[in-house]
Amino acid sequence: MISYRNVTKIYPDQSVALRNVSFDIKKGEFVSLVGKSGAGKTTLLKLLLAEERPTEGEVLFDDLLVHQLSPSSLPVLRRNIGMVFQDYKLLNSKTAYENVAYVMEVMGLEEDTIARDVREVLEIVGLGERAHHYPFQLSGGEKQRVAIARALIHRPNCIVADEPTGNLDPYHTRDIIRLLLKINELGTTVILATHNKEIVNRIGRRVLTLVEGQLVRDEEEGKFIVV
Ligand SMILES: Nc1ncnc2c1ncn2[C@@H]1O[C@H](COP(=O)(O)OP(=O)(O)OP(=O)(O)O)[C@@H](O)[C@H]1O
Ligand SMILES: [Mg+2]
Repeated sequence: MISYRNVTKIYPDQSVALRNVSFDIKKGEFVSLVGKSGAGKTTLLKLLLAEERPTEGEVLFDDLLVHQLSPSSLPVLRRNIGMVFQDYKLLNSKTAYENVAYVMEVMGLEEDTIARDVREVLEIVGLGERAHHYPFQLSGGEKQRVAIARALIHRPNCIVADEPTGNLDPYHTRDIIRLLLKINELGTTVILATHNKEIVNRIGRRVLTLVEGQLVRDEEEGKFIVV
């Protein structure tokens, strides 16, 4: 489903973010991507979303070369890959419901369809009761649940989470990880970039380890070993 082939990324200022990285991810996998700050995790994810271009090598999603997609195909790619960030990126003037509904409204979908789908994803993330709260009325963990609901709204094949628990306490961190595992069990591929050793070791799934832009380990049921 996802394939990185000899991918090198050098930014215009000559920073080398990724060095000859190759791996495949199959549909339905849960993959943790670990490495120290600056190791290249975010860069790797941006290449998948075609937010950056590889300097060398190629990235494929569903057999398509993402950096060759036409501008009109990019929204389709990005609907197929739900993105979750450390800082939630919610609209503060909109309720949980409205944050999730917003992208569907922009697409001009029918109100009935929007209401049905938004309620469904808010139920999946366990926020049915708090749908009409604003971000300032929600805990960090709840805000991240809204962001995950928004990422799920287009029924993506893949969820990419870049340090989604970075601003959360241990309780909410476990909660969000359980939710990502549940979404994975429902059939969605999950890629989780994180520094958090404890959660990666507890998840007990595949771990890709980056050190200074190099993929140094790729292990099934891996451990977080970088010191
Ligand atoms: N837009 C950019 N221009 C130049 N260099 C960049 C850019 N973005 C990232 N880099 C550099 O590329 C390297 C990898 O950065 P990246 O953000 O991918 O790391 P990361 O593993 O996500 O780090 P963190 O854990 O701190 O989020 C770093 O050396 C960084 O300084
Ligand atoms: Mg990063």
